[in-house]
Amino acid sequence: MKHTITLIPGDGIGPEIVAATVRVIEATGVDIEWETQIIGAYALEKFGTTIPDATIESIRRNKVALKGPLTTPIGKGFTSVNVGLRKALDLYANVRPVKALPNVPCRYPELDLVIVRENTESLYAGLEHIVVPGVVESLKIITEKASTRIARYAFEYAVKMGRKKVTAMHKANIMKLSDGLFLECFYKMAKNFPQIEADDKIIDNACMQLVMRPEQFDVMVMENLYGDIVSDLCAGLIGGLGLAPGANIGEQGAVFEAVHGSAPDIAGQGIANPTAIMMSAILMLRHLDEMEAADRMETALMSVFSDTDVRTRDLGGTASTADFASAIIEKLS
Ligand code: NAI
Ligand code: MG
Repeated sequence: MKHTITLIPGDGIGPEIVAATVRVIEATGVDIEWETQIIGAYALEKFGTTIPDATIESIRRNKVALKGPLTTPIGKGFTSVNVGLRKALDLYANVRPVKALPNVPCRYPELDLVIVRENTESLYAGLEHIVVPGVVESLKIITEKASTRIARYAFEYAVKMGRKKVTAMHKANIMKLSDGLFLECFYKMAKNFPQIEADDKIIDNACMQLVMRPEQFDVMVMENLYGDIVSDLCAGLIGGLGLAPGANIGEQGAVFEAVHGSAPDIAGQGIANPTAIMMSAILMLRHLDEMEAADRMETALMSVFSDTDVRTRDLGGTASTADFASAIIEKLS
């Protein structure tokens, strides 16, 4: 079956890792026509808007996109294009598997967790204003609707993937109303899934527990900001940001992307690790029901780690992004 997929190369290392990934996907033989779309700073220059309608329409039409990271300037400039895109398409569930890879030195080689991050609200609504000079207010929005649907997503995901437990992470001891509502919705939903264990942890303790004894967790569900932070923390447990994939999922479509950003410090040098976005692409192939291509790509990627010493610089090697992709393609044939 032929698929048409929206391709967003992104900023910084984006175009490099996306090109490497497209080469590997094409080498699996899966029939994909790419619809390349631009978004972000370059779109602003070209079309006067960071999120062109054509990009949103392309994803709505194709239902699936593969996306490189986008740069969001700190302080003044435009608001986050990532957040804008997730909101525009109501991609409410950000699913981020955290699994150690063979032969990659890391703290927890056996680790296998999943973060389910609420993707549309919390402090990421970006509702900020200056009350008076020197005083700003930033609104944290938590709704019953969004908290309930992300809890449902986490439990349904646990059932589908054969997982045993879902832990809600929160700060309901301090933010009694907002995080309190999130937690209440979580436990209400848990009642519908008696086969899955449900518990909760206060987010600061949860971070310490993740570093000390991460094997006690399985699926973790949390609101937007905590999910963002805990994702990078968990990437650190398995060997770094170059290895953590993700999917943004909603009723209107799914956008697959790595957890990491545009890494301006190494952009343009062809040395970024494409593993995270390649693993996101494997999730995408499964989402498209291209199980054989997904399995082949995953097996090839894993065997580069288990049978060869081809590694990018973040993992102590000397391979370029393109060399790494070539090593996977060699394993495919
Ligand atoms: P970052 O994730 O881009 O980089 C953090 C560190 O990890 C850097 O030292 C970088 O070199 C390294 N790193 C990241 N990905 C790597 C890879 N694939 N291979 C090797 N090393 C890698 O985070 P940072 O620097 O905070 O953000 C840079 C920009 O990316 C910002 O504008 C930020 O807003 C944006 N960003 C975009 C995201 C997205 O598009 N989904 C997600 C996170 C950040
Ligand atoms: Mg992040």
